[in-house]
Amino acid sequence: MRKVRLAVIVGSNRRESINRRLAVALARLGEGRFDAEFVQIDDLPMYNYDLEQNRPASVRRFTDQVAAVHTVLFVTPEHNRSIPAVLKNAIDWGSKPMEHNVWKGKTVAITGTSPGAIGTAVGQQHLRQILSILGSLVMGGEAYISFKPGLVDEAGEVTAESTRAFLAGFIDQFATVATHLELGREAANAQAVTTA
Ligand code: FNR
Repeated sequence: MRKVRLAVIVGSNRRESINRRLAVALARLGEGRFDAEFVQIDDLPMYNYDLEQNRPASVRRFTDQVAAVHTVLFVTPEHNRSIPAVLKNAIDWGSKPMEHNVWKGKTVAITGTSPGAIGTAVGQQHLRQILSILGSLVMGGEAYISFKPGLVDEAGEVTAESTRAFLAGFIDQFATVATHLELGREAANAQAVTTA
């Protein structure tokens, strides 16, 4: 089956991040349909317009990596009912300068986990709003994962069958949407070439 190139962005800089664990599990569940690469964001300096004249190497690496794909999966914690600063910072770098906004036209899915009962629902709403404003096509539906110890094991396997089935459905739907959009993009490009 055709695979879609996927950038995975984890909105946590914590070594033992439960969101990274969830992201690894999702990459495993989707490995038949996605070629996934994890994008580092915790080495980016705080956004500062003064750095625009000579963007730091870590920023260029980050934006190049995102710009090279059409499809992005965000797996993020919720911090104080919004997204963590480390993730907002990365999004801000990617959004500027406006004519090189790397989020524009991206096919995006959002999920996240926290030990809390509503599993990042409010933070995800903020992220959806930000990415929509930046021109991403954010997949509908909801995937708020309430994390219990051991939910994802060391190897990235989801241990609860009902959660595993739910996440498999989520990643499968995302792959279907992303594949359709890639095929559509390719068809449009081919048509543009033949009519030029
Ligand atoms: C949190 N946490 C949290 N959890 C939640 O469900 N809703 C929230 O609004 C917040 N707010 C919040 C703010 C700050 C500053 C911290 C440090 C933590 C708890 C959070 O879900 C928990 O730390 C998770 O383990 C974070 O995910 P990672 O970093 O382990 O992936």
